[in-house]
Amino acid sequence: MKAIVNTKYGPPEVVSLMEIEKPIAKENEVLIRVCACTVNRTDSGFRSAEYFISRFWSGLFKPRFQTLGCEFAGVVEEIGSRIKLFKRGDNVFGYNDKNFGAHAEYMTIAESEAITTMPHNLNFNEAAPITEGAHYALCDIRASKIKSGQNVMVYGATGAIGTAAVQLLKYFGANVTAVCNTKNVTLLKGLGADVVVDYQTQDFTKTEQLFDFIFDAVGKSSFKQCKPLLNNKGIYISTELGKNAENVFLALITPLFGNKKVLFPIPTIKKEDVVFLKELVESGKYKPVVERYYRLEQIVEVYKYVESGQKTGNVVIKMED
Ligand SMILES: NC(=O)c1ccc[n+]([C@@H]2O[C@H](COP(=O)([O-])OP(=O)(O)OC[C@H]3O[C@@H](n4cnc5c(N)ncnc54)[C@H](OP(=O)(O)O)[C@@H]3O)[C@@H](O)[C@H]2O)c1
Repeated sequence: MKAIVNTKYGPPEVVSLMEIEKPIAKENEVLIRVCACTVNRTDSGFRSAEYFISRFWSGLFKPRFQTLGCEFAGVVEEIGSRIKLFKRGDNVFGYNDKNFGAHAEYMTIAESEAITTMPHNLNFNEAAPITEGAHYALCDIRASKIKSGQNVMVYGATGAIGTAAVQLLKYFGANVTAVCNTKNVTLLKGLGADVVVDYQTQDFTKTEQLFDFIFDAVGKSSFKQCKPLLNNKGIYISTELGKNAENVFLALITPLFGNKKVLFPIPTIKKEDVVFLKELVESGKYKPVVERYYRLEQIVEVYKYVESGQKTGNVVIKMED
């Protein structure tokens, strides 16, 4: 089968399209014909091993997972002998950052992992990007314990995490102020943001509004910068470690002193989360934003675009016409 392979860590050019053996489903796994997948910041992080710590999971000197791709949508082609939840021909989608494999014509995943049947109202290309940004956003929103009616700022609201966060926060009943560039103001209003701040014409820190939760979905702000905008007991979460990994230290220290806190939740995803996201999609409360479509052959170009930090929402690789 065709697959994207990287035998060493490094820049986008370390990956290439190759013929490799089709995987075989173990007794607790399904074999999926991948119809669409995404290239995202998680794939980039594991391919580059930019954060050395990721190598303790993915291989110290060379990648243990030589075909990346964590998000997928496709069709169940074969099932292992102990499979109960799926049958051949089921349309499914999900997330696999335990052993990846979606940048290929076929992949396997255990049925107990973050996989479920497709929402009835999306096609494969639309369903593939449901989980990556949304599960990071969901973990952070849950950690913030935000309640209906509270005020939230989403800084960097146009990425995969940001566009999902705005929609999920609206679902949870928050009043959302989204910070983005001029070209995406209309997009964010359409996603439900109550107030949109264009960072190209306005300084987002110059606002009278105070927030119960500031979520920096692109890791470009700091607690110091955002602290004056938080109300008493306000929470600040960033998707990045921050300068000198300050967000990790602040998450240890700020809960001990004062009221305004930094949290640094460790993201997780379970089958229940994927089922929850599917239900939101089916009820029209959440739809992943897709900016561009590519083919598998364009993988180096796709990685370069993803790593430019400029993508709006998600980029999808179409495996079929
Ligand atoms: N290491 C990992 O495994 C991992 C996994 C997932 C995510 N992350 C991190 O989480 C963050 C978000 O990921 P993502 O996939 O959602 O990002 P993304 O899709 O790449 O987001 C990029 C978006 O952020 C906006 N942006 C860039 N600079 C900005 C700024 N200074 N102010 C406001 N908006 C800005 C960009 O729009 P404009 O520049 O056009 O405004 C673009 O729409 C990234 O920092 C990523 O590294 C890390």
